[in-house]
Amino acid sequence: MEKYIEEQSQILKARVGNNPILLLISGGVDSTVVAALLLKIFNGEQIHLMYMDTGLMRKNETTAVRAILEKLGAKNIYVINAQEEFLNALKGKIDPEEKRKVIGDLFISIQEREVARLGLSGDYFLAQGSIRADFVESGDSNGKKVNVVKSHHNVASPLVVAKRQAGKVIEPLSQFYKYEVRELGKFLGIDEEIVNRHPFPGPGLAVRVLGEVTKEKCDILREADAIYIEELKNRRNKAGKSLYDDIWQAFTVLLPIRSVGVINTSAANNEENAERKYGWVLALRAVNSSDGMTANVYPFETRDLLEISRRITNNVKEIGRVTYDISGKPPATIEWE
Ligand code: XMP
Repeated sequence: MEKYIEEQSQILKARVGNNPILLLISGGVDSTVVAALLLKIFNGEQIHLMYMDTGLMRKNETTAVRAILEKLGAKNIYVINAQEEFLNALKGKIDPEEKRKVIGDLFISIQEREVARLGLSGDYFLAQGSIRADFVESGDSNGKKVNVVKSHHNVASPLVVAKRQAGKVIEPLSQFYKYEVRELGKFLGIDEEIVNRHPFPGPGLAVRVLGEVTKEKCDILREADAIYIEELKNRRNKAGKSLYDDIWQAFTVLLPIRSVGVINTSAANNEENAERKYGWVLALRAVNSSDGMTANVYPFETRDLLEISRRITNNVKEIGRVTYDISGKPPATIEWE
């Protein structure tokens, strides 16, 4: 890692010179590690970190991201509140690829607008936290044709393509697998809790609210997801490790269907008095993987699942039913969209 940082330092300094570098921060591990790397190599004034609150982030994410970046010594942090723009653009969109495209394009156009507002020179470099898996799954693996599983916005967008042609894209993690990104992050002094955070997709909750995305649905998902993650952090496996650390990636998915249930359990025994409720269905996902290319379903103890499910339905009243996704990758992908 030390040698890698030294090498990157020489390469990047020669390429970039005194030009500004703009890094889009997603809130995930990858872009945080790139931020730490750039802040180590370059003067903090040269690095501009832009984080867009798309309204598709996890609970309390924006506050947490700002705190992390400040701790890394960032000088120029721009938090853009773009919640309404994203939610408006997603209105009525149900096709997964279309949703991803809408988000990717809007991301770039807002970035362009906000960068113009910053007044950075046109020669600015665009840094990204793309890792090896992003290229393979975007059909761009070292020139080889690979089936496009999904278009990842951080690789396929027109502005990135233009910047790439101009030789102005910096992707220091492009050859890294996820576990290597984590090692680099630890080496750069990022807190273990942040480095060990599960991966989070660029389009955020939009790929976890299936079908049309609305603020209400995002709010429901955020609450349920926060409970799930908190439970995983508090529960231990037989070896005493937290379930969160034992799992590679865990999250919840809000399905576009509702199902019937009963509100009052004592009344449920009496068909006539039972109050019926029409609640959303939530899926829990938990997989183990080394790089996201293939994944195995996490073998929970039944009791953990039952207790987590109960806590979610007791606390998030809009959710009426919880299921556990038991499909591995392949044939399923890790995310549902
Ligand atoms: P799938 O769902 O394709 O995902 O099995 C493999 C891994 O990639 C993450 N993922 C993304 N990461 N931008 C990202 O940065 C994206 O658009 C994206 N889509 C999926 C996913 O969470 C899993 O870890």
